[in-house]
Amino acid sequence: MTKSLSRLFRREQMAFLGRDRSAWGPHLDRVRAFLGEGLQEADPVRPVLVLGAGSGLEVPWDLAPATTTGWDADPWSRIRTLARHRRWPPWVFEDMTGGLGELEAVARRCASEPWSRRWRNPEQAARRLTGLLPSLTPVPRALHAWIQDHQPGSILVANVMGQFGVVAQRLAEAILGPGAFEADPERADPLADALEAWTHRALRVFLTELRISGARLWLVHDCAVIFSEGGLDLGPWAEDWRGQLRAGGPSLEVHDPLAGLRVGEQLEACGTFQHRERWLWDLAPGQRHVVEALAWQPGPP
Ligand SMILES: C[S@@+](CC[C@H](N)C(=O)[O-])C[C@H]1O[C@@H](n2cnc3c(N)ncnc32)[C@H](O)[C@@H]1O
Repeated sequence: MTKSLSRLFRREQMAFLGRDRSAWGPHLDRVRAFLGEGLQEADPVRPVLVLGAGSGLEVPWDLAPATTTGWDADPWSRIRTLARHRRWPPWVFEDMTGGLGELEAVARRCASEPWSRRWRNPEQAARRLTGLLPSLTPVPRALHAWIQDHQPGSILVANVMGQFGVVAQRLAEAILGPGAFEADPERADPLADALEAWTHRALRVFLTELRISGARLWLVHDCAVIFSEGGLDLGPWAEDWRGQLRAGGPSLEVHDPLAGLRVGEQLEACGTFQHRERWLWDLAPGQRHVVEALAWQPGPP
């Protein structure tokens, strides 16, 4: 991984940890209980992998078998885990999408003219990157190799999938300049659309790797970000989270961090769900995330 990517991960994680966490209590209790169950149910003699381990804010490392490895590209994540949990587990710092290095290299080529090395203006650079993005397909080679080598019995995915698109967008913005994206939300933004399609591909191949791993899966992720001041509540489970929504009215502004991908649909064909639940996470005033927790057992459905 390049130094600039590594720095970007560190900045993102610092921003995450620097947020006002006063209203996060109910979310942290539920996510720790869910991941804790995954760690306790893991076969303690087989390797266990925690993807998006971060600083362990959501991961109860005291319940993790000795065979557990953390995976997070933030260069400070392992040392923060030591500070928080007094654990120094084996760690992988690679990009788990496998596509960010290529995206970075292509964005840099778009940002300047190769013959003069002069910077292109952000709109021109954005048009070039938009044209090239459809040819980029992330391949999670490091993740594939790790799974092949270690044959984990359980894989926990700790609130990282919703970050794939955010990190890709921040990377493009850092290289091309803030003017690369359309500021007016009412107007079309081809670069944002092309990055969303890239994120969809990254998530699809990532989930394919998890599915073919043969491991028990414990996935927790944001499936929607809702911007509204009004009261919101979730009713009993429905396939689509919108079917669970109580109140809120027609004025909800919703962002899809999973770029149109339904995680349950991607996994359900070859196994059974042991656990399915969703809850609301009050991340900031007027910003609530719909969090989805799915535990999946491989084998015939
Ligand atoms: C929202 S935080 C999750 C917090 C974490 N579960 C905890 O308990 O602290 C997302 C984490 O995923 C990591 N991440 C995001 N995209 C990644 C990628 N493509 N490869 C590796 N790590 C990634 C970030 O560095 C960050 O620590």
